[in-house]
Amino acid sequence: MCGIVGYIGKKQAAPILFRGLRRLEYRGYDSAGVAVMSLEHDSTRAHEHESTREREHVIKRVRAVGKIDELGKSLDKVELFGTVGIAHTRWATHGGVTEENTHPHIAMDGKLALVHNGIIENYRELRERLPAEVVLTSETDSEVLAHLIATYYEGDLRIAVEKALACVRGTYGIVVMHQDHPNLLVVARMGSPLVVGMGEGEYYIASDATPMLAYTKKCIFLDDGEVAEITPDSLDTYNLKDESVIKCVEEIDWDEAQAQKAGYENFMLKEIHDQPLVFQDAIRGRYNLSEGTSYLGGLNMTAEEMRRINRIVFIACGTASYATMIGKYAMERLAGIPVEVDVASEFRYRDPIIDENTLVFAVSQSGETADTLAALREAKRKGAFVRGIVNSVGSTIARETEGGSYIHAGPELAVASTKAYTNMVAIMLLYALQFGRLKRITLATGERLLNALDEIPEKMKQILSLSDQIKEIALKYKDYHDFLFLGRGINFPVALEGSHKLKEISYIHSEAYPAGEMKHGVNALLSPTCPVFAIMTKNQLYDKMCSNIEEVKARKSPVIALANIGDERVKELADDVIYIPKTMELLEPLLNTLPLQLFAYHTAVALGRDVDRPRNLAKSVTVE
Ligand code: AGP
Repeated sequence: MCGIVGYIGKKQAAPILFRGLRRLEYRGYDSAGVAVMSLEHDSTRAHEHESTREREHVIKRVRAVGKIDELGKSLDKVELFGTVGIAHTRWATHGGVTEENTHPHIAMDGKLALVHNGIIENYRELRERLPAEVVLTSETDSEVLAHLIATYYEGDLRIAVEKALACVRGTYGIVVMHQDHPNLLVVARMGSPLVVGMGEGEYYIASDATPMLAYTKKCIFLDDGEVAEITPDSLDTYNLKDESVIKCVEEIDWDEAQAQKAGYENFMLKEIHDQPLVFQDAIRGRYNLSEGTSYLGGLNMTAEEMRRINRIVFIACGTASYATMIGKYAMERLAGIPVEVDVASEFRYRDPIIDENTLVFAVSQSGETADTLAALREAKRKGAFVRGIVNSVGSTIARETEGGSYIHAGPELAVASTKAYTNMVAIMLLYALQFGRLKRITLATGERLLNALDEIPEKMKQILSLSDQIKEIALKYKDYHDFLFLGRGINFPVALEGSHKLKEISYIHSEAYPAGEMKHGVNALLSPTCPVFAIMTKNQLYDKMCSNIEEVKARKSPVIALANIGDERVKELADDVIYIPKTMELLEPLLNTLPLQLFAYHTAVALGRDVDRPRNLAKSVTVE
């Protein structure tokens, strides 16, 4: 939540900062701002001729409420020249969505500027420590921090930052600049991510690596409690005890092209269509057909340790948590290991039963979700093996787990997760197979699963080619106010995800239920004004699902069915049918989710929603 960008080097900073903000817009889009260190003529000597007047550095700031485009319009009206700058896109936490609350915040009459991602929990208390003459212009915790740094400033910006941060309780990723040090940025991190990209005589700073992909792939990831002093030619990192810290340079294997819309109207549609390709990236080189098993080396466990595992816990939030429910089915069926799925925000506040024979997977696209991170720390404290299933390279969850797998979905920029969900499912299937082959399933079963996995990308392409048909159905149903998504077995989590996607981007109320539960209460909702999306591909629960949908039909709810090609029976039950290719039951979510993504997408577009940036949401939920 909130994205920050910084640049220091020889190029004009403003265009780089603006472009960076666009890449980070998924982190928040309530308002945005930029500040650049600009060289101006001394205004107090305006009477002198321009050539003789001295020039001085001043911080120039532009801010705008609304999405990044609004900031773009404001930037078009001003000249913002300078090669050092900072920028921010905001998801409001403290204080309303106003220009005053928009970052960068300034202190010392405009001499110091700061952008901040995170929450300063004790900002009220810190406000009391500020000199009486300080007048706060916003309602934010971040502005208090800017003034606190200014209060400690005695000529050394990094020391002032360190002194101020020593008083702070909460989380922060910050970038600070000061007029007296025109070639310096000071950055610091505690709980909110910060990446520094390294160019030739220049550095890029951002909340994640996507803004810098166009310029460099070499990055360092700051860890909690680190502060760095950055000039165009140097980067020095310290811990909060002011000791020097040596950082490793890491290489990001994402491409700038992956972070573009590639001709699609928006990121969500592009990311839906990315799925056949990125699914292959997820599984490539990670299995061996002749041995009927998978090898995810990052697990970092010996075969003996793996055999010892008698319980697996998946922790995740939102869409990632629905993916883990599929992981549970796969792991229990293939490996016979009991699996618990826990929403991270609940896990961290109960007293989970975890020991040294428990394997905990933290599953996250961003790798920064605050609740998932806190839950994994709790599991570590209790002595479990903790591994990550993560998309964002170098993210906090990836760094804090003792192993795991990247899902290789590439940058996912639409707030609604699509391809990351699919690749999470793919990786969990591979883990289930790896444990399964070690514990109980035969070579033949392993081979069958891998062969079916190989066919998935082609089948995904077939499904994506149904986009126009799904659009027609979406247009027919777009004006309903309530939806039910029903599935059974492995398709119940698919129903949950379909329902989540629809409400997230179209704002239509919808719920998902295991179809067998309907009689216990939810049947009361059935009526001609409440359509049902039934996931009824042909698996072991197909007949049961048909009976459930008969009952829905009898109560006159319109039915949209997702069925396998060749299923004639379903035509008698449903008003509209989407036919898709068949696969093994365990792999069905890899296919069945795609039509639901397209249905949500087309519905949202038809209703005029901003699908990439739905209201009140941000992609990376870095606060509790
Ligand atoms: C997905 O469409 C949502 N935007 C949201 O539920 C998301 O899956 C959740 O916030 C978890 O994010 P993560 O995968 O980055 O941890």
